[in-house]
Parts: sequence; structure tokens; C-alpha cells
Amino acid sequence: MTYPTVPPRHPPLRRWILGVSGGIAAYKACELTRLLVKAGAEVQVIMTQAATQFVTPLTFQSLSGRPVLSHIWEPRQDNGMDHIDLARWAEAILIAPASADFLARIAHGMADDLLTTLVAARSIPLYLAPAMNQAMWNNPANQRNVEQLTLDGAIFLGPGEGQQACGETGMGRLLEPSELLSLLSPLIGSKPLVDLRGKRIVLTAGPTVEAIDPVRTLTNISSGKMGYALAAAAVISGADVTLISGPTALSVPAGCHLIPVHSAAQMRDAVLSEIQDADLFFSVAAVADYTPESPSGHKIKKTGAPMTLTLVPTPDILATVAALPNPPFCVGFAAESQHLEEYAKRKRLAKNIPLIVGNLAQRALGRDDNEVTLFDANGSHPLSPASKEILAHQILAHAITLMNTQST
Ligand SMILES: Cc1cc2nc3c(=O)[nH]c(=O)nc-3n(C[C@H](O)[C@H](O)[C@H](O)COP(=O)(O)O)c2cc1C
Repeated sequence: MTYPTVPPRHPPLRRWILGVSGGIAAYKACELTRLLVKAGAEVQVIMTQAATQFVTPLTFQSLSGRPVLSHIWEPRQDNGMDHIDLARWAEAILIAPASADFLARIAHGMADDLLTTLVAARSIPLYLAPAMNQAMWNNPANQRNVEQLTLDGAIFLGPGEGQQACGETGMGRLLEPSELLSLLSPLIGSKPLVDLRGKRIVLTAGPTVEAIDPVRTLTNISSGKMGYALAAAAVISGADVTLISGPTALSVPAGCHLIPVHSAAQMRDAVLSEIQDADLFFSVAAVADYTPESPSGHKIKKTGAPMTLTLVPTPDILATVAALPNPPFCVGFAAESQHLEEYAKRKRLAKNIPLIVGNLAQRALGRDDNEVTLFDANGSHPLSPASKEILAHQILAHAITLMNTQST
């Protein structure tokens, strides 16, 4: 089987900072956020203080799936340096709307709030979508700033010409979100490989957490990245996605319905209540195989003596779903530290599922990239090493092709 590859272009820019400054057009940045996320971008919104007077951060948080940042003095980060961390994380910055005041500040290298500091600290492309009254746009000082920023390498998107919010007509209108997106989407470059509109997908992801007592647990080092990447790829491909996840540090991919769980038993219950009308089930979670037989209701006191914990097997969620009278197309994951091919093939047959994704635990767990082999009734299909985001699209494409072959 050959795989459609994500088309090579300029290296895709997936991680975007959307800076929103204080202008009446800030409301249009809400729709822009939605469109960018839908196009496959990860969007971190940063607002100036003035912008928060026009639209609440909560609106952007809901649309981007990430908490909005606006204060430079927030001591939330370990090292207190959001501006440096974000400048390293992001692959591009878009300021929309860019106010006259904001352009003036960055044209002069000012760094007096989080967004300007980030712009000053960046070494990545900067796109500016100005929005202001036509007199402000034409003001000589503003024109000098635009010229300086262009010389400094910023790329201006717009402004447009036409009727303005203030009632005047002229240059200075923010480009429509759809216009901005059509300019930017070739850069984002995450074209879905399959069309999943009308399909319902249930996924599990992350670790499970088994209680020993009210303050102690047994868990594993799964980060949830592969499952979340699959959920995001499924959303981008048009599917209705339910993500049942153990605790992770990840942002929930925008557009999917999250059901948070802790234990393997909770995960099984959530899966069984969601699976009825699902077309596909991806069992990506690192579900505990064993759980303490009788967790203590109170904190176990230290005695100094050796302690024995009796563990009992947890429910096999994937095998349970595969054994349902009318099961969805089931895809399992096998993370093995050795004998990957042998164990993965055996697991596929034991669970009676059409497809299993095998990866070496030491190569996969917690990392951003992965190297996987797909095992189905036709044999094994190694995929080239890639980011989990790209692999997610390829795994989805293989699963859908196989599913369609089986149903014909
Ligand atoms: C109701 C209202 C609408 C505004 N609209 C704009 C605008 O469209 N463009 C602009 O450049 N400034 C506009 N301003 C002025 C900016 O909000 C002001 O210059 C502010 O300091 C910008 O701060 P910032 O660049 O940090 O976001 C507006 C102000 C008010 C009160």
C-alpha cells in the first residue's frame, strides 16, 4: 500500500501566535482563530490590555482551546519567561488586528507588554494585518511606521479599502478573516488526507491512574501526544470526535468533545457509553494492565515494614469493544520495548481487531515524533519516521482505506 504524503512546500508553519491588539475589529479575530484552528494550526492567542476591552479572553480561549495570555508579569511559568518560551515555540506570528498604536510601538522596538516583547524576541516570520480609521492609516507617522516595519522584514496583509466601523470610507479596514485565511492557509500546510465528514470517531489517549489510597497512585509515562494528534487530525478531516483521556498536560484539540477520566475502569465505562454509534475506535491510551485490588479509603501510614500490594487485572477495553455485536472499526496501539513485530501481531489477533499500530515504547512515549509500523491482515506497513501530527494523518488514511475495503 502506498501512502499519500503531506505535500512538501515551504516547511509548514503550524504553531501560530495570534496577537490581538486594541481595535474595534478585534471581534473579527475570533472568527479568524476558528478558521486557523480548522485549517490545522495550533493557535496561541495573546491580547494587549486594550484588546481585552473589546473581546473577552474567554472567547479566544474557547475558540483556540488554549488559555489566552495578556500579562507579562504573570508568574505562571516556571521560569517566568513566557515571551522567550513562546518565541521559541511559535513558528509564525500574526497580529490581527494590528492597531496604529501597536505598529508604532513595534516599529520602535518597544517591549512594554507581552505581545510587543514577544515580537521583539522573535526570529520567526511576522505578519501584520492592520485595522484602523482611514485618517489614522494615512497619518504620516503611521505611514513611516509601516515603511520601517516593512524594511525590518514584517509582512503586511492589507489593510483593505471600504466602509469602516466609524462610518468613514477609505484604507484601513481589516481584511476579512476568510481573506486572511486564504492568504495564510498554504503556509499552514496540513491538508487532511481523508474526508471524514459524517464519521464519528471515539479515541482513548494518555495514561490511566490507579488509586492505591487517596493520595497515591499507579500510573505510566504516556504523554497522550499520539492520541491527541489523532484526535486533531480527525477533527481537521471533518469527523465528529470524542476523546476519552487520562490526565495529560496537553491542550484539548479544538473541536473535539473531551471526556476526562482517571482509572481504567472509568475509561471503560466512558468508552462503552460513547461507542454505540461510533464508526471508528482508536485505542491509543496506555491503559494500566493491573490495579490495586482494594485501594485504601484513607492514607496508608508508613510503618517501615515492607509492604505488599495485591494487583488485579483491569478490564481489556479494546477487546471488549471489538467483541460487541456490532463493533466499530477498531484500531489498537502496541508500545513494546522489544520484539515489536511478534508482540504487535499477536496482540492484533488476540484482540480480534483489523489494525494495530506498533511502536517501540522507548521511541514513542512522551516524544513529539515517532516511528510506527501498521499491522493488518495484509502484513506489515512501516511508515517513515515523522512527527506525531503527520503520522496521525497517515494512520487515519490507512484505517479508512482498510475500513472501506472491508465494507465493500
Ligand atoms: C472604541 C474604540 C475603538 C478603537 N478602534 C481602533 C482601531 O480600529 N484601530 C486602532 O488603531 N486603534 C483603535 N482604537 C485606539 C486603540 O484602542 C488605542 O490606541 C490603544 O492604545 C491600542 O492599544 P494596543 O495597541 O496596545 O492594543 C480604538 C479605541 C476605542 C476606544
